Amino acid sequence: TGGKPGSSRKPSAQLPAEIRGKGVVTIGSDLTYPPMEFVRDGRPVGLDVDLANALGRELGVRCTFKNATFDTLLPGLHEGRFDLIMSAMTDTKDRHEGNAGGSETGGGVDLIDYFRSGVAIVVRKGNPQGIEKPADLSGKTVAVQRGTLAHDFLGELNRQVPAKLRIRPFDSSADVYDDVAERRSSACLDDYPVAVHTAATRSHGGALELGGGQLQPLPLGIAVAKADTALRDAVRAALDRLIASGEYRRILKRWHVE
Ligand code: ARG
Repeated sequence: TGGKPGSSRKPSAQLPAEIRGKGVVTIGSDLTYPPMEFVRDGRPVGLDVDLANALGRELGVRCTFKNATFDTLLPGLHEGRFDLIMSAMTDTKDRHEGNAGGSETGGGVDLIDYFRSGVAIVVRKGNPQGIEKPADLSGKTVAVQRGTLAHDFLGELNRQVPAKLRIRPFDSSADVYDDVAERRSSACLDDYPVAVHTAATRSHGGALELGGGQLQPLPLGIAVAKADTALRDAVRAALDRLIASGEYRRILKRWHVE
């Protein structure tokens, strides 16, 4: 959306003067989302964190992460608590138009797309209830992270299935998976790379597996307030350079999401 085609200026020269002056870009993120963004040894790590740091190097600024629950990120951006959101945020029309979380605090966002991800159903090991597709969630209790696309997806699904789902929303992605592992929910719905990572990790004792494949792949983007066009163009130019240099690919490889 928009941009400055043909601009040969360095990304750092395109940054708004205020950010260049501070030398810091503040990034809002829900750091409960491995391998995309999470906390390890007290520090933010993950694909989005590596990408942010690489973008920062291109832009000549330092990136700092501010942790916040996912459904407070868009309002926080509009209140000026962060300059950008990097939180595996799906690029949707509602978010562009400001109809999704944050409409109260004004304006939509632009999203600079950098990855594609769909959602996946996660169930207990052995899939005791044979849940393979969304229709199989009819009448089931399903956990999901609040304010996410998966949350909207379940709301939509509820209008199509014969028996209503009981939807259990949580602030933290970890709590969503615990709810399934601990048998309070039959299944959960989450972004595909996070579902794959979590099903494979030891934290849940190998208790979880995917029910079916990836659904509805859509772009994920870096969100920037609509009015911040200079910042948007600078970040997009920096991302283009990371893609051209191969650094972007290396980051995906490092987090096994290719
Ligand atoms: N991609 C989904 C969405 O945009 C979920 C992202 C959740 N991200 C997170 N860090 N918890 O709605």
